[in-house]
Amino acid sequence: MTQLDLKRRMKACRIVPVITIEDEAQAVDIAKALIAGGVDVLEVTLRTAAGLPSIDNIKRAGLNCIIGAGTVTDLDDIAACEKAGADFLVTPATPPHLFEGLLNFDGLVLPGAATPTEALTLYQTGFDIVKFFPAEPAGGAAMLKALSAPLPGIRFMPTGGISPSNAADYLSLPNVVAVGGSWLCTQADVEAGNWEGITEKARQARQIA
Ligand code: 3PG
Repeated sequence: MTQLDLKRRMKACRIVPVITIEDEAQAVDIAKALIAGGVDVLEVTLRTAAGLPSIDNIKRAGLNCIIGAGTVTDLDDIAACEKAGADFLVTPATPPHLFEGLLNFDGLVLPGAATPTEALTLYQTGFDIVKFFPAEPAGGAAMLKALSAPLPGIRFMPTGGISPSNAADYLSLPNVVAVGGSWLCTQADVEAGNWEGITEKARQARQIA
């Protein structure tokens, strides 16, 4: 899939669940539950040892979704994600020594920024969609609204503190492509195998979108 196709897919879905998986054997069930609720852009974090094998499992299952890796923080992560077949990468923060590796990744990259200077630096480096993180503590929807006039080319995927109660505030902004968050797939739901509950949360999120 080209970068343009991936961007279109993200723009169409508008909701990106941030999923942390403890057991890769559950990855396909989690993905199926989210897809059943209409959410077909999935970010699996590298915060657990099961992260990469989960991406690999979802990829191999041939589901109708795009699957990315979150919490990418070093060059080894980038190479490992490429091997696992990740369609996109998300970083929580983006130190300059990652720029080249991210630019060379064969897929979409959403590098993390929390300030206008960081966002502009990433844009001028070649990234036009930036993850705004941590969105709520870093200024929330009001911050992104304030950035739209002086930084018109940059689009954002805010994550960090987003929930059904404030997602619409972000999604109403012209510079927001999609919102991300962990609320769609909680550890409690996964532990309980509550796939129906995850599907329902995905459905509700898509209604907000
Ligand atoms: C992320 O990695 O983007 C955030 O941890 C997700 O934030 P949330 O848990 O507040 O949704």
